[in-house]
Amino acid sequence: MITHGAYAVEPWTVRETELSLDVLAQSESVFALSNGHVGWRGNLDEGEPHGLPGSYLNGVYEVHPLPYAEAGYGYPESGQTIINVTNGKVLRLLVDDEPFDLRYGRLVSHERVLDLRRGVMERTCEWCSPAGTRIRVRATRMVSLTQRSIAAVAYEVEPVDCRARVVVQSELVANEQLPEPNGDPRAALALESPLEPEQDFASGHRLRLVHRTRHSGLRVAVAADHVVSGPEPTTTGSESHPDLARLTVASVLEPGQKLRVEKLVAHGWSGVRSLPAMSDQVDAALAAAARVGWTGLADEQRVYLDDFWARADVEVDGGEEIQQAVRFGLFHVLQAGARAEERAIPAKGLTGSGYDGHAFWDTEMFVLPVLTYTSPDAVAEALRWRQNTLPAARERAAQLGLRGAAFPWRTIEGQEGSAYWPAGTAAFHVNAAIAHAAVRHVATTGDEDFERDTGLELLVETARLWRSLGHHDHRGTFHLDGVTGPDEYSALADDNTYTNLMARANLLAAADAVERHPKEAERLGADDEESAAWRDAAEAMNIPYNGELGVHEQSAGFTRYQRWDFAGTRADQYPLMLHFPYFDLYRKQVIKQADLVLAMYTCGAEFDEEHIARNFAYYEPLTVRDSSLSACVQATIAAQAGHLRLAYDYTTEAALMDLEDLEHNTRDGLHIASLAGTWMALVAGFGGTRRVGETLRFSPRLPEKLSRLAFILQFRGRRLRVEITQQSATYSLVDGPSLRIRHHGAPVTLHPGAPETRPVPPPAHRPAPEQPPHRKPHSH
Ligand code: BGC
Repeated sequence: MITHGAYAVEPWTVRETELSLDVLAQSESVFALSNGHVGWRGNLDEGEPHGLPGSYLNGVYEVHPLPYAEAGYGYPESGQTIINVTNGKVLRLLVDDEPFDLRYGRLVSHERVLDLRRGVMERTCEWCSPAGTRIRVRATRMVSLTQRSIAAVAYEVEPVDCRARVVVQSELVANEQLPEPNGDPRAALALESPLEPEQDFASGHRLRLVHRTRHSGLRVAVAADHVVSGPEPTTTGSESHPDLARLTVASVLEPGQKLRVEKLVAHGWSGVRSLPAMSDQVDAALAAAARVGWTGLADEQRVYLDDFWARADVEVDGGEEIQQAVRFGLFHVLQAGARAEERAIPAKGLTGSGYDGHAFWDTEMFVLPVLTYTSPDAVAEALRWRQNTLPAARERAAQLGLRGAAFPWRTIEGQEGSAYWPAGTAAFHVNAAIAHAAVRHVATTGDEDFERDTGLELLVETARLWRSLGHHDHRGTFHLDGVTGPDEYSALADDNTYTNLMARANLLAAADAVERHPKEAERLGADDEESAAWRDAAEAMNIPYNGELGVHEQSAGFTRYQRWDFAGTRADQYPLMLHFPYFDLYRKQVIKQADLVLAMYTCGAEFDEEHIARNFAYYEPLTVRDSSLSACVQATIAAQAGHLRLAYDYTTEAALMDLEDLEHNTRDGLHIASLAGTWMALVAGFGGTRRVGETLRFSPRLPEKLSRLAFILQFRGRRLRVEITQQSATYSLVDGPSLRIRHHGAPVTLHPGAPETRPVPPPAHRPAPEQPPHRKPHSH
């Protein structure tokens, strides 16, 4: 847990005012910068000390064998893991005769600020060397959101009170030594020296290294250019070696004098382009960046983010930490997806190597909803990535004896990377999440081109999967047996309600899309007969219900299982998967993460308010939240059921997941879905926002602790602002034509320039449900 209390609570920044080497790795994740293509962890400029060095390029991975003690048909033979590519962040500093290394000497002051509006990380520190020379270092770092391959650092050093001889070594370093993985199965496999050198170059202020991954055969090129300013004489020299290129800058500084090195770093990778083409590509990217220079890049970054915040900001009065956390979350979600451009958005974004850099359903179910309403172009790109991976998904379906496409549970390139069937491929619901995201994107943007060119194919191929995975029984009821729903503590269950409801929506959406685009559907081989079969399956879908208890079953028979011995489970035995055998978790009523409760959010129209409240009350005491994906969903449904205090606590937990390292693994990278979930908890939870078809409905209600919540949504060519207080909600159209919405069920028509205010009715009074012992939400 981050207990040093060093992150000040401020609305637009994350500020660290003391450096604790024990939590260095966590802070590297928190201060990570990325644009979805390039990711730099917040490693100290000098390269050492570090928790986990990390420079990533989205899509650059290495393959490794997946060994099985007992082999089985259809098990993936090789896995993919994200690798640490050539590090362009490093600027080492020598002061008189001593390396500037925080493990030596005395750190007089230290501050790092992640500026969410400027999109930069600023570091200021004063250090006294063991020999007594005092210097001030100021470094500003950015990963450009406007120039996709570029990251940059402005590094300044000055002596405080006496003359100092300083040497700055600006480097590109490949095959950095990585710390041993920490034994947590959720952390990444560290591959030693994954990069084979192909070219090294240094001339003047320019550096370049080109490498190739040994097995996946991906070529990685990184180049740097510098602008140096310092008092005369400041000398420079450059050199290169297979895994290192370096510019050395030497100067003597009097107090009041500064040495400043501006470093621009360009990144490129390809599985097909030649060595000369790749080195030209990074040189060209450098030329474009150098044309505007550091200041130009910083200005572009600010303009880009001003525009983002105008579309996306959420304002919270009354919960300062939540205010900071939701912006921190939005910023990281943007960073993860902004320029991913037909590449995956991994569970950790590009902030760490946790989960081997894999993308899961987290993307479509948690991250894309935020981007849909704030940066819809990024959503289209993310779904085009899924479309590009259809060949692998079709192959996987065929291998499993199924039709259509079986998207992987976890992957970088599109192939299944999960070596564990029950909590891997059997979680077929990832396919419905992809279909759901495509439908949501079309419904909220009205982008018919996207539906025709991308959405349709995703819908058709996933509908085929469901139709072939399930069967009609003798009564005609349609079942999806032996699947794993979101709750990974129940595996290979029959008729998981979440999966069945999502599959039903998927089948119907596919049939509707085929009707709207008959020509394109024909090209995909889909006709009326096939869509009729999808509709039949959808209509006959089994939705397990326990009439005696009056609740929906998470899956068929779930409510008759033995309850987990919660009273006999100690606090230190969570997460359960690290302390108990899966077989026992699988056969008891114990839930890792919101499953049926998630269905009540994603397929809310299928449940009336009474069932929402009853189901929530039934599943709460069984849900242990051993996944960071749970709190935000529980927050959303708790708010709907009127448990506003509980919803607030869950929101806080989702919001502080990384800022307070609640899952103790922020060191491996941020929980992007949970960060996105903070937005979900506020907008869908307290804002009560639901999309039903092409209509937005709001049922806002604030918890006592919040006096105001305001958010902005992009919706069908409009910008809609919603402002909620304890008493009322005001809806205004910031941009775009009139729109009909609903407020607590009643229709409201919004016209440009004419905000509408409505009173907020009080919530229904229901006793607050209990959580398992030791599993109350984190509250502040
Ligand atoms: C959760 C999955 C999730 C994965 C990556 C697991 O712990 O159970 O639902 O996709 O983490 O975030």
